[in-house]
Amino acid sequence: MASHHVLLVTFPVQGHINPALQFAKKLINMGIEVTFATTVLARQRMEKAAASSLPKGLTFAAFSDGLDDGFKASNDPQKYMREIRRRGTKSLKDTVLSAAEQGRPITCLIYTLLLPWASEVAREVHIPSALLWIQAATVLDIYYYYFNGFGDEIIASSNDPSWKLQLHGIPILLSQCDLPSFMLPTSSDNYSFALTVFKEQLETLDAETKPKVLVNTYDSLEPDALKAIDRYELIGIGPLIPSAFLDGKDASDTSFGGDLFQKSDDCIGWLNSMPKSSVIYVAFGSILSLPRAQMEEIAKGLLDSSRPFLWVIRVNEKANEEKKEEDEKLSCIEELEKAGRIVPWCSQLEVLTHPSLGCFMTHCGWNSSLESISCGVPMVAFPHWTDQCTNAKLIEDVWRTGVRVRRNEDGVAESSEIRRCIEEVMDGGEKSRELRENVEKWKGLAREAVEENGSSNKNLKAFLEGVGAAGC
Ligand code: UDX
Repeated sequence: MASHHVLLVTFPVQGHINPALQFAKKLINMGIEVTFATTVLARQRMEKAAASSLPKGLTFAAFSDGLDDGFKASNDPQKYMREIRRRGTKSLKDTVLSAAEQGRPITCLIYTLLLPWASEVAREVHIPSALLWIQAATVLDIYYYYFNGFGDEIIASSNDPSWKLQLHGIPILLSQCDLPSFMLPTSSDNYSFALTVFKEQLETLDAETKPKVLVNTYDSLEPDALKAIDRYELIGIGPLIPSAFLDGKDASDTSFGGDLFQKSDDCIGWLNSMPKSSVIYVAFGSILSLPRAQMEEIAKGLLDSSRPFLWVIRVNEKANEEKKEEDEKLSCIEELEKAGRIVPWCSQLEVLTHPSLGCFMTHCGWNSSLESISCGVPMVAFPHWTDQCTNAKLIEDVWRTGVRVRRNEDGVAESSEIRRCIEEVMDGGEKSRELRENVEKWKGLAREAVEENGSSNKNLKAFLEGVGAAGC
């Protein structure tokens, strides 16, 4: 496979960059050359925050999305998507041409979510391509069904709390509150725009015969979802997590790589000083910004639980950006700082594998969900938007590794509810023991999947051979 050269194109957010970098590392370890393409600003931030932990042997090809060049999206995501497409398309073509001129032609183009134009570039330059789907296979299935027969029913029943949906490949009935939020007319101002991007994403797949989708999951975690859609070949290749945090076979493979945020160094020392399985880790990924009222409820719930906690509250890094509510000091900040630790960003995998960790209160972003399962940490599932509600449903009712937070009529999860969920996971009672046993089982299966003869490893090799056979 030494002559393969993969161009891996990544949308410039943490939740896409992390799994893509792990995927790049796997390819490099298999002797494949990888050029990693993301935006100029993301590349600069990765260099600043985590240069030493980037995979060795990786070549970068940064492309402009305009933001490095004075373009102002003015909080208009549609405008941004047009600009990244316009500039990115030209840049990717240049990258392909220049690699060919240097005698290291690109043999396969792999792109993450939200970049449907990357597959158009691949078609134009006659290179095979595949989508690297960085969410659950179940979520891809639901989008597929939405655009292929179920969309009208979902929209029509949006105000019916008793409505349930049974979909092939998904082992539970879904309610409105379990669907990706962009499908719900009531849930977000950007809903129609975001749905358009997902629609286009699937249409680019539909333009190929039996398109290949590499999914950051593993066969035993989503066995039916991976096989639900005959039109596509969904290939489980996850979890895309460094070996040191997964099977431990390569203790030096700790670099998650590519942090867009500056980490706080002090949290591991603090975790070392805490009793075994005692700490609640609270983090809501890299994008979400919670309203002030919700932050106050979480703070109170944590204090009322009387347990130590490590809470990631991201600070607003760009001085010229409007200050977000999340950055403002919480009313009980002094008490919080006595009872636990608040950091702006941490190495999440180091935290999740730390012996003092007891549970993870998470927004259920797919990376966080999969990392928690793979590290054997039970969850308080507190989803907010996009795929997170579906992930929370799977966590609570399919894998049974967590408890989902319920909101009041105003959409706020009150402190008493936060505390109730923490207790259910942490109190050592029957439910808490069951969650721990379940998550241990999924952790074991995650490790099996990435072994030499494990499903994810075999699937990836078969994919690469297939792409090679297809003329690379
Ligand atoms: C986004 C979407 O919000 C999510 O729903 C989708 O599934 C993926 O894209 P994000 O919100 O950032 O992602 O969440 P998540 O998918 O969990 O990814 C966050 C990543 O940042 C994880 O890999 C996590 O390990 C890392 N992280 C988070 C840190 O390394 N340190 C932190 O302090 C917090």
